[in-house]
Amino acid sequence: MTRKSVIIISIIALSALIGVIFLSCGRGKPLSKMGPAQYAGSQSCAECHSRIAVTFRNTLHSQIIQDARQHPSAIQGDFVIPNDLRDFTKDDVALTHGIQWKQRYIDKEWRVRRAQWNFETATWAPYNFDTWKKSDWRKECAYCHTVGFDLQKLTWSELSIGCESCHGPGSNHIKARLEDKHASILNPATLPRRAASDICGQCHTRGKSPDGTWDFPVGFKVGDYLGSQHFKVVNKSNTEAWWPSGHVKQHRQQYPEWMESTHARAGIGCPTCHSVHEAKTKFATAMNPNNLCLSCHGNISTDPLRGHAPIARAPQHSDCIGCHMSPTGKSATRGDERTHQFRTIPPKVTMARGGGNPEKQPNSCNHCHAHKNQKPEYLQKALDDGKKLLSVRFGSIAN
Ligand code: HEC
Ligand code: HEC
Ligand code: HEC
Ligand code: HEC
Ligand code: HEC
Ligand code: HEC
Ligand code: HEC
Ligand code: HEC
Repeated sequence: MTRKSVIIISIIALSALIGVIFLSCGRGKPLSKMGPAQYAGSQSCAECHSRIAVTFRNTLHSQIIQDARQHPSAIQGDFVIPNDLRDFTKDDVALTHGIQWKQRYIDKEWRVRRAQWNFETATWAPYNFDTWKKSDWRKECAYCHTVGFDLQKLTWSELSIGCESCHGPGSNHIKARLEDKHASILNPATLPRRAASDICGQCHTRGKSPDGTWDFPVGFKVGDYLGSQHFKVVNKSNTEAWWPSGHVKQHRQQYPEWMESTHARAGIGCPTCHSVHEAKTKFATAMNPNNLCLSCHGNISTDPLRGHAPIARAPQHSDCIGCHMSPTGKSATRGDERTHQFRTIPPKVTMARGGGNPEKQPNSCNHCHAHKNQKPEYLQKALDDGKKLLSVRFGSIAN
């Protein structure tokens, strides 16, 4: 044996020894020996995490899909007054889908029926009116509305979004000894911040799998970075999904919008602003929206004269999300979902796109200021005048 090979063999032996010591350090049975984890169901988590389990039951996540045969009261649409759009009865409904914006109805053959119930307007609206007979809820929708969806078998372990949608399969964690509890389950708080938001992004997005077959990411596991190997986001030139300004026009596009924001770059992710274990506010924000923004942007002044967005002769505009998260999206009715890019959309963007017609490009002001005397030209001038006034009076734009 040469001297060189002795050194190499010693290094290999030493590394193996260090490896063994490292693996046995406070870990009992190595988790890898427990094999791949299986989905156990949110019910099984409730045994030990009862506080989270109780508050989680009131969230929209946990209630979106209901088995109408077990819970007939889940059917919320008006089935009493006859309606031409609705060609089915309550008896045809196997699953209800939705409780906040709209409700769709899945029949026993997994078809999404051709009429949906819109909650805000309490009216029926057509949905895939001509093509519904060819629909298959399992292939088109289940991935984002069930836990542990299996694309090959078209099965799932639980309806609606459950604990394991964000924490991964939990059977090993349930069986694990106390000292292994921590390492046997994924806690998003311990992930790099991008990856924690990517858990949400696998569902809060719109586009296609890389081969163009599916409307959801393929091959993604919680903890991964969501990327083009899983999913391609719908193109900005698609006028169904995006406004010309590049802001959200449909729904479930929070993730691609957030990815463009300064917040994403600063590490302010979905779980920073949303507490998904409970429904404390309308949309599970960690606190009411204004307080949430001010918890970090406490130095922002909304004073009409020297504030950060002065508008001459206007009272204080203090509703942060009114200007910074304009309701440009649509789930059931136009404007029922907010943009997640956080920068304002100046009225001049609307001017460039054909004026104040609300079906054209919206801006940050015209969802409140839609009166005919408040055209985008007027609103843009109010903003520009405010800035001018500020620089005349105080020399520069204050914070
Ligand atoms: C038999 C009791 C038990 C069950 C059942 C159980 N857990 Fe736990 N879990 C624990 C304990 C104990 C801890 C605390 C570990 C620690 O702090 O080191 C824990 C911690 C966690 C953590 C935090 C891990 C970390 O980084 O510290 C998560 C997330 C979690 N559990 C999720 C779940 C989910 C999801 C389920 C259902 C699939 C579940 N648990 C079922 C006992 C349980
Ligand atoms: C890529 C994931 C994804 C796919 C695929 C998907 N959805 Fe959704 N869906 C979501 C998310 C996320 C939301 C909530 C966020 C939002 O609306 O902005 C949502 C919301 C909904 C709502 C509104 C729920 C409520 O409480 O009002 C309905 C109804 C719905 N989806 C039905 C469907 C149907 C039917 C399909 C299949 C044809 C489908 N979705 C496909 C992710 C998805
Ligand atoms: C929509 C995603 C999502 C769902 C669903 C979810 N969690 Fe979590 N969970 C998170 C995130 C995100 C964190 C990290 C919170 C943070 O950043 O502090 C977390 C943290 C935890 C922790 C660590 C301790 C704590 O309180 O922060 C436990 C335990 C836990 N979850 C259990 C559960 C259980 C049990 C359920 C089902 C009843 C559940 N989670 C459902 C996203 C989710
Ligand atoms: C800087 C804070 C912040 C971040 C980051 C954030 N949100 Fe939001 N989100 C909000 C606020 C505020 C609302 C509006 C609450 C209201 O209307 O009461 C909201 C609303 C929503 C809604 C309701 C529908 C809508 O769009 O209006 C969904 C769904 C949602 N957020 C998901 C997400 C997801 C997924 C991410 C990460 C990709 C995310 N949010 C990141 C603050 C945030
Ligand atoms: C498995 C898919 C899936 C995952 C993962 C997921 N969501 Fe959702 N989310 C949905 C669907 C579907 C809805 C619509 C629920 C409804 O309307 O009943 C929704 C609704 C919401 C809402 C509005 C309703 C509410 O709860 O107040 C917020 C906010 C939200 N999600 C944030 C998040 C965040 C933050 C994460 C990651 C920590 C996340 N979601 C992970 C599918 C998902
Ligand atoms: C957890 C802290 C935190 C919260 C909560 C938060 N922000 Fe931010 N925000 C930041 C940080 C950090 C930056 C980046 C600052 C920088 O890079 O200069 C930022 C940047 C911004 C910007 C500048 C965007 C740009 O492109 O220049 C706006 C506007 C903004 N936030 C609005 C909001 C609004 C509105 C809310 C409430 C819905 C909010 N923020 C909530 C921390 C936060
Ligand atoms: C009347 C509309 C309006 C309201 C209400 C409003 N802002 Fe702004 N904000 C603007 C405009 C316009 C800008 C400059 C352009 C941009 O960044 O979008 C701005 C910029 C910002 C910035 C970027 C930092 C800077 O000084 O350039 C932050 C952070 C911010 N706003 C936070 C907030 C917070 C927090 C609230 C609630 C207390 C709020 N804004 C309320 C219109 C508004
Ligand atoms: C959340 C709703 C809301 C948003 C968003 C909003 N405003 Fe206002 N604005 C109001 C209210 C309420 C008043 C007081 C109405 C009154 O006095 O008649 C007002 C008053 C004004 C006034 C003085 C009264 C008038 O009509 O001349 C001007 C100018 C103005 N806003 C400009 C803007 C501009 C520019 C933006 C966008 C950067 C904006 N506003 C965004 C609600 C809003």
